[in-house]
Amino acid sequence: MKKIISIALVLVMAACMFASCGGAKDDNVITMATSADFPPYEYYENDKIVGIDIEIMEAVCAKIGMTLQPEDMSFDSVIGAAQTGKADIAMSGITITEDRKNMVNFTIPYTSTAQSIIVVKDGAITTKADLEGKKIGVQINTTGDTQVTEEFGDEAVDRYQNGALAVESLKNGKVDCVVIDGEVAKALVASNEGLEIIADAYSIEEYAIALKKDNTELLEKINGALEELLADGTIDAIMDKYIEE
Ligand code: ARG
Repeated sequence: MKKIISIALVLVMAACMFASCGGAKDDNVITMATSADFPPYEYYENDKIVGIDIEIMEAVCAKIGMTLQPEDMSFDSVIGAAQTGKADIAMSGITITEDRKNMVNFTIPYTSTAQSIIVVKDGAITTKADLEGKKIGVQINTTGDTQVTEEFGDEAVDRYQNGALAVESLKNGKVDCVVIDGEVAKALVASNEGLEIIADAYSIEEYAIALKKDNTELLEKINGALEELLADGTIDAIMDKYIEE
């Protein structure tokens, strides 16, 4: 009887290993929480998540001998996924902020950008000062959201699940402008008629990868790889592929 039980146990264990039972961690896989609604950093192309963040992280993985597994979720959940360790990393055009530093550790920055202001072409808003008294569309829980909420108050802000939905509202006249990361703003304007970005923008923000506080081993590894990829021009080349100046 004992023997049968132990054979059964071995079989169950083998089946588990085979099927990666209950989401058991594969040591060579880095799961990446991302919100694939953010071209050119992460977006869908033929059912596949592509973009700057994916390519940079793939280059990092190649250096540290790991494979990347992106997991799409709303931006709202991305930082929490890293904070709790549900995902190994969060990479999603995430700006380093003091608040977020209380929740996660950040790698060194891999790029920077500023929040841009998208408006309807030839409309009433031409400078940042014109935003006063207007309805502003943002992606929920982004730095754009926090900045305009601080500056213009809660009532001035309409929060959307993603930038594309905020831009839909701008086109329908439900909001007067959309505040979103610069390159994403360019992509949204390029794929929607009748919109433009005004010259005024917000201050520069730095993007980094977020990890659970205690996962310093992986943090060090990723930082080492990022340093090399920044120094040898790989990251610049990836940027150039997606961003035309
Ligand atoms: N940089 C902004 C932030 O950190 C927006 C990021 C949104 N990312 C996304 N994939 N939708 O809050």
